[in-house]
Amino acid sequence: MKRHVLITGATKGIGRACAMRFASQGWSVTAVARTVNDLHQMQQVWEKDYPESILKIVEADLSEAEGVSSVPEGDYDVLLLNAAAFTPGHLLDEADLYGAMHQLNVLANHRLARRLLPALVGKGKGHLVVIGSTGTDHWKKHMTAYVATKYALRGLFLGWETELAGSGVLTTLVAPGATLTASWENETPPPGILLPEEVAEVVFSAVVNKRTGRILV
Ligand SMILES: NC(=O)c1ccc[n+]([C@@H]2O[C@H](COP(=O)([O-])OP(=O)(O)OC[C@H]3O[C@@H](n4cnc5c(N)ncnc54)[C@H](OP(=O)(O)O)[C@@H]3O)[C@@H](O)[C@H]2O)c1
Repeated sequence: MKRHVLITGATKGIGRACAMRFASQGWSVTAVARTVNDLHQMQQVWEKDYPESILKIVEADLSEAEGVSSVPEGDYDVLLLNAAAFTPGHLLDEADLYGAMHQLNVLANHRLARRLLPALVGKGKGHLVVIGSTGTDHWKKHMTAYVATKYALRGLFLGWETELAGSGVLTTLVAPGATLTASWENETPPPGILLPEEVAEVVFSAVVNKRTGRILV
């Protein structure tokens, strides 16, 4: 039977690279994002390049509770909680960035975990993969709010890891360093920046090899 992965933020960057990596091995993919044109474009790519993979698309704004509720509960083997926003800024800037990033980077994942994990726990198997960031190990001044959300997510992950121990559901936090995606559109990418495909390989390998805990990329 085909294995099935749900990926949030699947239309761009790391999420898209992960979707392609799983699809290349015939997995079914449920892809969640807001921009319907990107989701339709993905469907065209799938028909041409990944005919063995069933792609389901879900248009949802995960920063809203209603958006999370519209994600089908589905029969997933792997949940890949990847979607996040990075908006650079400083504490005393006019715009207060924390609240908006918290809605997506933290609260959406908490809500998705509550919505989707019961089915995996009920089956006694599955794999929850969360995308963190090495930003929680070293960061720059303009990253405070983003890094705080990633710390919060890491805290949630540590709790989920403890709560799910013995349930049959595996838990992995993949923490990439700087990766060349749209997040870097307005910044100078650092030397040695990762490619999304490199992160996707780590995610895929963690699932196939049942690696758990925190993996730094
Ligand atoms: N890039 C890096 O340097 C880097 C480094 C470390 C960790 N990370 C982490 O890696 C993950 C992916 O980052 P990325 O750079 O690949 O992101 P990205 O290229 O900016 O793509 C973000 C994805 O999330 C979707 N998305 C954004 N807001 C959404 C919302 N409110 N509801 C639903 N979907 C939403 C986007 O599609 P729509 O806009 O159409 O919704 C898109 O598919 C994040 O968790 C990030 O924190 C990234």
